[in-house]
Amino acid sequence: MNIAVTGLHTKSGKPLHPIGIGTWGFGNYPLFSPGTNAEVAALQYALSLGQNHIDTAEMYAGGGAERVVGRAIESGDREDIFIASKLWKNHVADGTARPAVEAMLKRLGTDYLDLLYIHAPWFDAPWQAALSLARHPIVADQMHYSLAHQQEVTPELRDVCTAHGIAFVAYMPLKQGEIAHDPLITQMAQKYDAAPAQIALAWLLAQDVLPIPKALQKIHSSQNATALTIGLTPEDILRVSECLKRPHRMVQPDFCNSAQNW
Ligand SMILES: NC(=O)c1ccc[n+]([C@@H]2O[C@H](COP(=O)([O-])OP(=O)(O)OC[C@H]3O[C@@H](n4cnc5c(N)ncnc54)[C@H](OP(=O)(O)O)[C@@H]3O)[C@@H](O)[C@H]2O)c1
Repeated sequence: MNIAVTGLHTKSGKPLHPIGIGTWGFGNYPLFSPGTNAEVAALQYALSLGQNHIDTAEMYAGGGAERVVGRAIESGDREDIFIASKLWKNHVADGTARPAVEAMLKRLGTDYLDLLYIHAPWFDAPWQAALSLARHPIVADQMHYSLAHQQEVTPELRDVCTAHGIAFVAYMPLKQGEIAHDPLITQMAQKYDAAPAQIALAWLLAQDVLPIPKALQKIHSSQNATALTIGLTPEDILRVSECLKRPHRMVQPDFCNSAQNW
């Protein structure tokens, strides 16, 4: 993983940990309830492991996830944490971006964001309006990308990002946890003495992609934070990519069935 290719860093100058922290699904409980306390603790645990890139959005739990993040970072050094949030695309189109971002900052309890995405910009993306508001170039593209969902990320897209120094961030990198139960990944995990999720994350890291898994459970955070220690061989990267591409899921190539070769 060559994190330097993206140039992204915290305000204090620390490079991003290659594994980010997802927050979709957080923030549905009252702010000072046991459910929220567990989510705050999960984020603080991930931060304590060195993960310093939190991904959230105004639309997650109607702002609830941003409030959880706000609680999780209030005792730390804000400048050591990279916070990315997402503005729902309608705000760009209807001219309400500024008050919407101000509301995000209030929920997060901070006076700046490290990265602001336009959320779900497909189909009717108001690109011109977005770019006219931006004072900085586009620095990151967040895509649905995992071993189990490879079809949206083309070599052309990767080339454009690389050419422009745009960080490539993968959401749902574990297919919402399902990937940990995939028999092929489980077999490969045995070879590397790793957890299946670590194989899925290592596969993304090998492509200089930043995954942002969400984890409430400590064991999951620990596994995710240490996925960067797993160095998949080029042959295994190719095998697992080919085996899990959708067209191959129904009829597996021979090498997918020969776990003893892994
Ligand atoms: N831009 C967009 O439109 C968009 C869309 C979707 C998501 N996102 C972002 O991407 C983040 C990640 O996506 P996601 O939350 O949908 O799904 P995900 O990260 O692929 O999967 C999360 C699920 O995987 C489980 N998990 C985490 N680590 C694991 C491990 N080591 N072993 C086994 N299971 C593990 C979690 O369980 P526990 O929680 O029980 O630990 C949770 O159920 C989101 O949280 C959000 O920040 C962005």
